[in-house]
Amino acid sequence: MASLSSATPAVATLCARLRAQPARWLVTGSAGFIGSHLVETLLRLGQTVVGLDNFATGHRRNLDEVRALVGPERWHLHRFMEADIRDLQACREACRDVDYVLHQAALGSVTRSLTNPLATNATNVDGFLNMLVAARDAGVKRFVYAASSSTYGDHEALPKVEERIGRPLSPYAVSKLVNELYAEVFARCYALPSIGLRYFNVFGARQDPEGAYAAVIPRWTRAMLLGEPVTVNGDGETSRDFCFVDNAVQANLLAATTDDPAAVNQVYNVAVDDRTSLKRLFEILRTVLAEFRPAVEEVRPEYGDFRPGDVRHSQADIGKARRLLGYLPSHRLEEGVRVAMPWYVARFAVGEGVCA
Ligand SMILES: NC(=O)c1ccc[n+]([C@@H]2O[C@H](COP(=O)([O-])OP(=O)(O)OC[C@H]3O[C@@H](n4cnc5c(N)ncnc54)[C@H](O)[C@@H]3O)[C@@H](O)[C@H]2O)c1
Repeated sequence: MASLSSATPAVATLCARLRAQPARWLVTGSAGFIGSHLVETLLRLGQTVVGLDNFATGHRRNLDEVRALVGPERWHLHRFMEADIRDLQACREACRDVDYVLHQAALGSVTRSLTNPLATNATNVDGFLNMLVAARDAGVKRFVYAASSSTYGDHEALPKVEERIGRPLSPYAVSKLVNELYAEVFARCYALPSIGLRYFNVFGARQDPEGAYAAVIPRWTRAMLLGEPVTVNGDGETSRDFCFVDNAVQANLLAATTDDPAAVNQVYNVAVDDRTSLKRLFEILRTVLAEFRPAVEEVRPEYGDFRPGDVRHSQADIGKARRLLGYLPSHRLEEGVRVAMPWYVARFAVGEGVCA
C-alpha cells in the first residue's frame, strides 16, 4: 500500500483524490487473493467497500487478516456479503448504491476448467453475466473486471499485444474471452462503461498455496518450506510474465477512476513486460526463501510432464495500459517475491517441515 501511494505521480494523485472524496466500491471475490488486496487497499484509502464472496476458493481468514491490517476504524467502512454471483438477486443487492465494481469472483485454474467445465462456465460466464446485468441496472460508474492472459491462447507472438489473440486452449480461457465479448456488447448496447484487465500470473501474500489448483509460486513456496518435492511441469523453459499483486491493485484503481473516454471500454494487459522461465523462477524462490530458512538452499527441482492447456511462453506488452491508464508496475518479479515471502514463511512456521 505504501508502495501504491508512491508508485507514480499519477497514482499518488489518484490516492490523494480518493482520500479527499471517498467513493463506494463493490469487490466481488473479496475473500480471495486479489480481491482481498483490493479490499485492503481501498479501506486504507478510506473508501466504503462492499465485499462479496461465496468462499468457493477464498477464505474467511483472508478477510480476518485484512481486518487486522487495516484496524477497526477502517474495517467499519466494510460490509461483507456471503453470496454467490450465480444468484442474480444477490448481484443486484451487492451493486446497489455502488460507484465502482471491481469484479474478481471466478473459478480460476486452467486445470480445474478441464476437469469441470460446467462449474467454470456457471461462475465465470453465467455469474459474470449476472454481474453485468446488475451493474447496468444499478447505473454504476465503471465495471472493472478480471480478464486473463489465457485469452491469448495459441497465438505465439511475443510480447502479447491486446488486439492480437489466438484460439482458446481451455474452457477457462473460453470463459474469460466470453467475459470480454459480453462487456463489449454491454458497452455498445446499454452504454455500460467497463474495463477488462488481462492479468498475467499474479502473485503475492494470501495467494492460496493449498490444493491441486494452486498457482506455481505459492505451490513451490509451500513445498520448499515443508521439504516436499518441487515439481516443474515440463522442461523448465516455459516462461511467464509474473506480476506482483500491488501492480494488479494499481491497475484496478486506475481503470475504475480514469476520466479519459478513450481509456474506457477497453481491455489491458496487466503485467510487467518481462519473461522469466520456470527454471529461473525456481532459483529466485530458493534464494529468497533460503535467507529465512537456510535448508531450502539444498532443494532441487524434479521435472514432470507438460500440463495440458498451458501456453508455452507469455510476456505482456504493457504499453497500452501505460499510455491510456498511466499504469507503471511498482514491482518486478524479484522485488515482489521479497515482499511476499515473509507471509509464506510465517504461515509455514518452523517445526512444520523438514526445512525448518
Ligand atoms: N491470480 C492470477 O494469476 C490470475 C490471472 C488471470 C486472471 N485471474 C482472475 O482474477 C480473479 C481473481 O483471482 P484470484 O487469483 O484472486 O483467485 P481466488 O480464487 O483467490 O479468488 C477468486 C474468489 O472468487 C470467489 N468466487 C468463486 N466463485 C464464486 C461465486 N460463484 N460467487 C461468489 N464468489 C465466488 C472465490 O471464493 C474466491 O474468493 C479471477 O477472476 C481470476 O480468474 C487471476
